Amino acid sequence: MKKGSIGVFDSGYGGLTVLKELVKQLPNYDYLYLGDNARAPYGTRSFETVYQYTWEAVQWFFKQGCELVILACNTASAKALRNIQQINLPNGYADKRVLGVIRPTAEVIGQFSASKHIGVMATSGTVQSESYLLEIHHFFPEMQVHQEACPMWVPIVENGEFDKPGANYYVQQSIDTLMQQNKQIDTILLACTHYPLLMPKIRQFVPDSIQIISQGEIVAKSLSDYLERYPTMAQKCSQNGQIRFCTTDSAADFDQNGAIFFGKPLKSEHILLGH
Ligand code: DGL
Repeated sequence: MKKGSIGVFDSGYGGLTVLKELVKQLPNYDYLYLGDNARAPYGTRSFETVYQYTWEAVQWFFKQGCELVILACNTASAKALRNIQQINLPNGYADKRVLGVIRPTAEVIGQFSASKHIGVMATSGTVQSESYLLEIHHFFPEMQVHQEACPMWVPIVENGEFDKPGANYYVQQSIDTLMQQNKQIDTILLACTHYPLLMPKIRQFVPDSIQIISQGEIVAKSLSDYLERYPTMAQKCSQNGQIRFCTTDSAADFDQNGAIFFGKPLKSEHILLGH
């Protein structure tokens, strides 16, 4: 049987916050990470563009031998996953699987809120797709979901400004606008894999009574359940505890910045998509 690493994809560095948790919860598997840093951010791009970029990346993972790919990017999950699952995979890739981060998060997020008011902070693309509204209501019909697009947060994070004083303005502005939508919000979901880096700043502007949830652990737990439910897929994922990091932009930059997201040093390779 052909075995491959678990593919983990993001527009840039954000997916490393998810990979970190995957490795923590499922350390034996092999992982292949790709950040499309050359074309990040995705959050402000059209549906067609995000779909095209994401499908190119997924095909690259398949060429590298991956049987299972996780879109560790909310924007790609919101704008590309459905087409990939419903149109692309049935056309020649029926045995491969591509999973996203929105459904596993929506499945559990309602459990965190007593007031039944959840704030969702995300990229403009994820907010406009209304994926979180649909998915959360599917699992928790009584939940009120208040979304806030934070277009400045990914550029702040991608440019290494997340712990600098300049970030305070944009973080506070988006938090304040979200909280003005409804005073009963008791849970804030960071629905973008880049945002955990801003956690200390976000915490500064959010009252202690409000919980802030990031997705890494949730997604890792969900993947672990998935691999238990689908042992045939689990068997197709190689287990040597190895991780390979790739980027479509400068490997030197990726090594430097990626280490902050991943929480430890890493060594990446530059690759070209579509080759
Ligand atoms: N990290 C991605 C997400 O979770 C988006 C970042 C971007 O805009 O490229 O939505």
